[in-house]
Amino acid sequence: MALVDTHCHLDFDAFDSDRAAVVARAQEAGVDAVLNPSTDIANAAKVVALAHETACVCAAVGVHPNSSLEWGAHSADELRALARKPKVVAIGEIGLDYYWDEAPHDVQRKVLQAQLELAAEMELPVILHNREASEDLLAILLEWQAGLRASGSPLAAKPGVLHSFSGDQAMAEKAAAAGYFLGFTGPLTFKNAPELQAIAAQAPLEQILVETDSPFLSPHPLRGQRNEPARVKLVAEKLAELKGLPYEEVAAATSANAQRLFGIGGQQ
Ligand code: NI
Repeated sequence: MALVDTHCHLDFDAFDSDRAAVVARAQEAGVDAVLNPSTDIANAAKVVALAHETACVCAAVGVHPNSSLEWGAHSADELRALARKPKVVAIGEIGLDYYWDEAPHDVQRKVLQAQLELAAEMELPVILHNREASEDLLAILLEWQAGLRASGSPLAAKPGVLHSFSGDQAMAEKAAAAGYFLGFTGPLTFKNAPELQAIAAQAPLEQILVETDSPFLSPHPLRGQRNEPARVKLVAEKLAELKGLPYEEVAAATSANAQRLFGIGGQQ
């Protein structure tokens, strides 16, 4: 049963010594597509090149909130040019991070806004990072989506994913009701995550994506190790357990969701 890892950073140095083997292990584990978002403009080009070279890898381009200070007058043009390349299926990862606080919050919001505008222009869904910024992020996303709706954009119906969802139940409900997808990663499998597990159990299956965020967030029982896309299976298995559904049904549904949002994967 095919799975799609809709968020991994295969371009990172952590995979420099064995990237091809990591991709091969993912395919052996039934992962037929992976989506690799960028975190800044320099690695956006690297991610696009990796997608070009590797059949099962697709790319997203964007500037992570922790890199917001690098945003300049030409950044939107640079991203636009990269976003037009083959196999670029989303703008990301973008968002707000008030935990690491690498950039002033108003700068983060401005850079997010600029990239939401680019996504709207290119009709590409967004991959959203959120750390301790749920309230601001949700307000910005709902306002952006209202604009999409007003302009008749098809993106309004499936605007993007809240990657590695870390908000509360109320945010999950509001985001899902608006049509956003919720992405779940390794922490779903952790023993100390009852709140996150309850959110996943209640979220609509047709709006859930499974992700690894490799090399980070390795699932239980491999917590603390370097993560890799093959382990997305552990996230899907936990999701099936939480929902009380057969694994095959959850794998098929999350893969269909990846196909619907990003147009990737889909070999069942
Ligand atoms: Ni990430």
